[in-house]
Amino acid sequence: MSIGIIGGTGALALYEPLETAALTTPFGPPSARPVRVAIGDRSAWFLARHGNPHRIPPHRVNYRANLHVLRTLGCRTVIAVSAVGAVDPALPAGALVAIDQVIDYTWGRLHTYSDGPSAPLRHVEFAQPFEGEARRALIEAASELGESLVPEGCYGATQGPRLESAAEVRRLARDGCTVVGMTAMPEAGLARELGMDYANLCVVANPAAGVSDTPISEDEIHRELAAAMDRVRRVLSAAVARLPE
Ligand code: HPA
Repeated sequence: MSIGIIGGTGALALYEPLETAALTTPFGPPSARPVRVAIGDRSAWFLARHGNPHRIPPHRVNYRANLHVLRTLGCRTVIAVSAVGAVDPALPAGALVAIDQVIDYTWGRLHTYSDGPSAPLRHVEFAQPFEGEARRALIEAASELGESLVPEGCYGATQGPRLESAAEVRRLARDGCTVVGMTAMPEAGLARELGMDYANLCVVANPAAGVSDTPISEDEIHRELAAAMDRVRRVLSAAVARLPE
C-alpha cells in the first residue's frame, strides 16, 4: 500500500524526488506528475496540487484526476497539506490543525465521480470526513515530536481565488468554521468516493479577513508558510512512519 501526499501552497519541495510517474486519467491530466519521494526509510507519492511551478488556481485544479492518479499508483491513504486563514482568532499564524470537519461553500467544481450515465450513482457516507488512521497518525506524530498541533477544527472551503470579505468570514465563524481555505473540497469528498483514507494538515498562514485589523498580504502568507514548512515536514514524516507499509 502506498501513501499519497498532496502538497498545497508553500509545500512544493518537501522531499527528495526518487522517480516520476507520467500517467493520465479518464478525467484528464493531474495538476503535475506524481513524484515518488523518500521519507526516512519509507516512500510516498507526492503530488503538487497547484502544479509545479505553482500556477493552477483552486477552482481550476483537476481534483478528480489528482485523486484518481494517486489511487492508480496504489495509494489508499492520502495526507494533504493546505494553507488556511484562521477564522478562530485564537489560532496564530504558523499553527498546525488536523481538521476533523468541513463545510463546502465552493460551486461549479467537478466534485464527484458519480457524474454521468455510465458512472454508478453512489451517495457515499461523509459524516466524519477525516476519521481515519491518517489523521490519528498526524496527531500522534505531533505529540511524539512535542510539536503543537490542534487536533480538530472545521474547515470552510471557499471558492477563491480571491480572499474572503469580513462578512463572509463572520458567517464562517457563525457556521462553526475555525479555518478557511480553498481546496479541501472537493478533494476530501473525492477521496471518500475512491475509498481512500484522507487527512488534511492545515497550516495557518494568516488571520482570515476581518479577524485582525491589518489587511492580508500575499507576501505575509508566503512568509508564514515558508517559516512553517520544517515543522510540517517533520510532522508529516513522523505520521508516514506510523502508517502501515
Ligand atoms: N482564505 C482562504 N484561503 C486561504 C487563506 C484565507 O484567508 N489563507 C491561506 N489560504
